[in-house]
Amino acid sequence: MGSFENGQATERRFGTLAVHAGSPHDPSTGAVIAPISLSTTFAQTSVGSPVGLYEYTRSSNPNRDNFEAAIAAVEHGKYALAFSSGSATTAVILQSLAAGSHIVSVSDVYGGTHRYFTKVANHHGVDVTFSPAIEEEVEKLIRPNETKLIWIETPSNPTLSLVNIRAVSEIAHRHGILVVVDNTFMSPYVQNPLTHGADIVVHSVTKYINGHSDVLMGVAAFNSEALKERLTFLQNAIGAVPSPFDCWLAHRGLKTLHLRAREATKNATIVAQALESSPHVISVNYPGLDSHAQRAIALKQHRDGMGGGMLSFRIKGGKEAAHSFCQHTKIFTLAESLGGVESLCEVPASMTHAGIPREEREAAGVYDDLVRISCGVEDAEDLHADVLKALELAVAGSKA
Ligand SMILES: Cc1ncc(COP(=O)(O)O)c(C=O)c1O
Repeated sequence: MGSFENGQATERRFGTLAVHAGSPHDPSTGAVIAPISLSTTFAQTSVGSPVGLYEYTRSSNPNRDNFEAAIAAVEHGKYALAFSSGSATTAVILQSLAAGSHIVSVSDVYGGTHRYFTKVANHHGVDVTFSPAIEEEVEKLIRPNETKLIWIETPSNPTLSLVNIRAVSEIAHRHGILVVVDNTFMSPYVQNPLTHGADIVVHSVTKYINGHSDVLMGVAAFNSEALKERLTFLQNAIGAVPSPFDCWLAHRGLKTLHLRAREATKNATIVAQALESSPHVISVNYPGLDSHAQRAIALKQHRDGMGGGMLSFRIKGGKEAAHSFCQHTKIFTLAESLGGVESLCEVPASMTHAGIPREEREAAGVYDDLVRISCGVEDAEDLHADVLKALELAVAGSKA
């Protein structure tokens, strides 16, 4: 499996990498799937001479190493580092900045990222400026000698608007600034930000990469030696690391990511088209539709112009209809989170984005009647029928 090691992976295609990268056969038993290495400590033959590569599990662990090698391969990076959650990944990257640093971020970031930027990073002397139109505004928001990072999330949550990673990276690099892209919504199968010029790509592994709604975890991938040194130091020093069992589970999930991402995109496309032609729907946000305002970016930045498994739509009948829709679906479960094999729906204004003041929320397109959907891998015909039935019941109920 030598050819799947870090740095030599890009010659293979995605499915081959997902299945084989970071998956060496066990040298002593021949086991095709690595055992879960639960030991927290590793024997040494003499002081400072461990038997193998490992000393203490917070510093490194075989299952974490395997998972990190696989993510580096599928994100076309040299290195990857895993953390105990997507939020811990963000926190460690922010901790790598000196006090007095400045960040320019897209406005439409995940709520927890917004919370970290505005309620934690500021106490460490890191200042964040949010921009609703980062491609146009970034150049004038950069503060000489202070701005150290540009933070992008594309597509945004929950309105699925896109950012041109290459355009922003070119501006950032002219000023010696690093670009981070949160790629959680697309997954490494649909979008590889490093190949579009980003310096670090981050994921909430909790979503598509693990894909089975049973692991909380995060990961960052990148190419720079200097970043590897600094972030590896912080990974160990802060200790927000995932368990070996979670690494093993997430690695197993990754092996089918390409199959799940293709199926989720197919399902989301069918559901988005049905919603778009329904008289009960005001508008649909889905980057796989020709009507999406930034479809041209999706065609350039996403594999085969895929739209991914996430979409949102405004239902006629206001908040009441939105809530009612989520109670009338039989296959879509009303729940937060996304990216699992099972389809989910939620009302962002009342759930995931309830903490954002109404005016700010609505300026970003998050109205009370917006429903967010995560399409899983069930049969498209069943999802399609479930959505149409729930729409009718919800809109009829709100009229009555
Ligand atoms: C886009 C995005 N980034 C980061 C996170 C944080 O990840 P976690 O929940 O694994 O901490 C989430 C969680 O929903 C997310 O949707």
